[in-house]
Amino acid sequence: MNLSRLESCHDSLKASRFPFLPEKLGDLVIVLIRIGILICLIASVSLALHSAFSKQDRWFPLPEHLHVFQNDSVVDSGPTNISHILFGIAGSAKTWHNRSNYSKLWWDPNTSRGFVWLDKKPHLSHLDKLMPYQISQGWTRFRHVHSASAVRIARIVFESFRLGLPNVRWFVMGDDDTVFFPENLVTVLAKYDHNQLYYIGGNSESVEQDVMHSYNMAFGGGGFAISYALAAQLARIMDGCLSRYYYFYGSDQRVWACVHEIGVTLTRESGFHQLDIRGNPYGLLAAHPMAPLVSLHHLDQLDSLFPNQTQTNSLEKLFIAYRLDPARIVQQSFCYDHRREWSISVSWGYTVQIFKSLLIPADLQMPLQTFRTWRSSSDGPFTFNARPMSHDPCQQPAVFFLDHVVKVGSSGSITIYERYVADEAKKCKGADNTIEVQRIRVSALTLDPEYWKNVPRRQCCQLMDGGSIKNSSIHIRIRKCRPQETITA
Ligand SMILES: *[C@@H]1O[C@H](CO)[C@@H](O)[C@H](O)[C@H]1NC(C)=O
Ligand SMILES: *[C@@H]1O[C@H](CO)[C@@H](O)[C@H](O)[C@H]1NC(C)=O
Ligand SMILES: *[C@@H]1O[C@H](CO)[C@@H](O)[C@H](O)[C@H]1NC(C)=O
Ligand SMILES: *[C@@H]1O[C@H](CO)[C@@H](O)[C@H](O)[C@H]1NC(C)=O
Ligand SMILES: *[C@@H]1O[C@H](CO)[C@@H](O)[C@H](O)[C@H]1NC(C)=O
Ligand SMILES: *[C@@H]1O[C@H](CO)[C@@H](O)[C@H](O)[C@H]1NC(C)=O
Ligand SMILES: *[C@@H]1O[C@H](CO)[C@@H](O)[C@H](O)[C@H]1NC(C)=O
Repeated sequence: MNLSRLESCHDSLKASRFPFLPEKLGDLVIVLIRIGILICLIASVSLALHSAFSKQDRWFPLPEHLHVFQNDSVVDSGPTNISHILFGIAGSAKTWHNRSNYSKLWWDPNTSRGFVWLDKKPHLSHLDKLMPYQISQGWTRFRHVHSASAVRIARIVFESFRLGLPNVRWFVMGDDDTVFFPENLVTVLAKYDHNQLYYIGGNSESVEQDVMHSYNMAFGGGGFAISYALAAQLARIMDGCLSRYYYFYGSDQRVWACVHEIGVTLTRESGFHQLDIRGNPYGLLAAHPMAPLVSLHHLDQLDSLFPNQTQTNSLEKLFIAYRLDPARIVQQSFCYDHRREWSISVSWGYTVQIFKSLLIPADLQMPLQTFRTWRSSSDGPFTFNARPMSHDPCQQPAVFFLDHVVKVGSSGSITIYERYVADEAKKCKGADNTIEVQRIRVSALTLDPEYWKNVPRRQCCQLMDGGSIKNSSIHIRIRKCRPQETITA
């Protein structure tokens, strides 16, 4: 390491040699170069001494083969895929039994790489299809005010880096109750250069949480990604940094503070969802921002995504649509039935709403507030605009939930949504709530992940068969808009 540093000093001095200088002056330059080398040497030696003595900054030596930049001759240069991600999931022996169900949804034993990091050996009989585990080391010695496990979890990025696995471009952290959408995670990370210092994630939906922590913090439950280059820098300072922030509360807060010591701030991606909300996440997922869905969290604490089903069954259902067209999941399109004066909002693979009035797209893209804030269960504010949801079920839109999906050819799908009337809404007798549609069929071509590389434009929605209702069913097609077309056409 010292040798390579010396060489680079040497090289930079060599580069500053001026061939056109007269001989005497040339000699002077050589003398100056020698002084330069000496300075380099002193700097290297003092650096070596510094790292030998600053034990506080590094209790565990990093293995020799780990460098700040990856060795290009052993690293492939193709596009980023799932194999370039090393997941570091925060778990505990106590919760892993229950929560391993979440990872079963998204963990593919053939292609995913990573570990759940536990405090001790878990009592599990069926480990075969699960994410492999590691036992966290060396975390108990750290001073802390709140919880020792926050230190342990903050160190996962360091421990993952220290494994020195080949061809890792991104270290993706998450909780054992984080549900990832891996194809979309890859789409998002592939936009960024892992050799730059990146800290990518999302903050809390509840303003009270961002005010208390930071808008510049990637909230851990939503998952966040650390580029290889940043992980290498973090690994060097992590332990000293954790000692400095012993009084912090959470693990994500510690990582946030350490990342900021390096001078790096958060790159926000709106598909990461901490889901710091209470109640029903429906409104949010029915009007997702125009970004690939990357993660969901806190699902144990929220109402089931699909009514009258367990959360596990709900997620399994969402994943059936997700697997068919990952880039399109929960993407919103608007259809207008000008004759009936209906506005129809489709959240692909999840839900359809029919409003019996003409609402502007700027309103339709605003989530209905079916939830409250995380900490104080208040009516807001959130980090996005929300529309009030009428408490009168007779005033609410007619809601349809995904029932099943049909693959069409090699690159198309039909998703079928069935009307859902909550028991309460059945009491509405007025004309407001009656609608002859019971079923909506939505056809679409698979959305190319390349779509997300450009500035996204919402896709157009077309009522088929002139909007006629056949057998209580309407047919909608979602497609790319024509250049001059508006989505209200
Ligand atoms: C990079 O890897 C190659 C192949 O393993 C090795 O021969 C070379 O010495 C390495 N270079 C550096 C700078 O580590
Ligand atoms: C990811 O890309 C590398 C080459 O860049 C390749 O060797 C590997 O098989 C790919 N993995 C998957 C799952 O496609
Ligand atoms: C596991 O999940 C079940 C059902 O959700 C719950 O009743 C139980 O308390 C959980 N166990 C633990 C250890 O969290
Ligand atoms: C986890 O999955 C298993 C098998 O699918 C099921 O028996 C168990 O009840 C699930 N546990 C929880 C807490 O959902
Ligand atoms: C993993 O690979 C095996 C063998 O190639 C295959 O049988 C299995 O279906 C694959 N599993 C998944 C989840 O793709
Ligand atoms: C909920 O599910 C039960 C059993 O599957 C069914 O009897 C009931 O009608 C469902 N309720 C609603 C509102 O769909
Ligand atoms: C009408 O829809 C129902 C429910 O999907 C289906 O069972 C039936 O076959 C349909 N009838 C016709 C004529 O398409």
